[in-house]
Amino acid sequence: MLIHVASSEEEIGSLGADLIEKLYADKPTAVLGTATGSSPVPLYRELVARHQTGTLSFAKGQFFQLDEYVGVPREHPQSYWRFLCENIVDHIDLPKGGLNVPDERDGNTLDEAAAAYDARIREAGGVDLQILGIGSDGHIGFNEPGGSLSSRTHSGALSRQTRQDNARFFDGDLEQVPTHCITQGLGTIMEARQLLMIATGENKAEAVKELIEGGVSARWPATIIQFHPAVTVLLDEAAASQL
Ligand code: GLP
Repeated sequence: MLIHVASSEEEIGSLGADLIEKLYADKPTAVLGTATGSSPVPLYRELVARHQTGTLSFAKGQFFQLDEYVGVPREHPQSYWRFLCENIVDHIDLPKGGLNVPDERDGNTLDEAAAAYDARIREAGGVDLQILGIGSDGHIGFNEPGGSLSSRTHSGALSRQTRQDNARFFDGDLEQVPTHCITQGLGTIMEARQLLMIATGENKAEAVKELIEGGVSARWPATIIQFHPAVTVLLDEAAASQL
């Protein structure tokens, strides 16, 4: 695990973008695993900037998003589909159809939709680099504490902690926060060839400490990535403050 404590958001964006720029230089058809939340925003900003200056093209690439809320249509301001369009996809040259987000309508049941998403990832040749954020309770994607460490893409309920953390995006109103999601499982995430974890802010410090110094445990789902052979962790000083 390569851990870097950065002194600014810009540095995090730039270090992350270096990895992704190298990936697309080596393999123009690369599959990028995307994440939402505030953590990857500086990275997306930098990727868009590098695309605009001509150093980075996604024209042959594909994106697979980690997770999505259930019951939130694509056009909803808080859908992860829309987040990705607004923060990166609408500003780069990703081909039409290149953005994949788990979609509850991909099957007659949520289980079928989840299995269809895993199949799509396989057909695309797997994820080359997966961007990850971390929840304050140690979740990655929406894999909440207590879940299986080897799960595939699945639907599930969001923990109260995660719904509280995300209420800020829904007018601070817990009632409006969706209760369910479809998420890549920890087993799916671990199959990506490279992982890029970004964590910023004091409220991530405990989860980051467990991620880096704790034992691997379903209690802190992100700890599973200790078993991955190619992980880069980018932190700010606040997120690294308990190390
Ligand atoms: C959500 C997402 C996660 C994300 C986490 C942290 O719950 N499903 O993928 O990593 O929030 O978000 P933030 O970066 O805003 O703290």
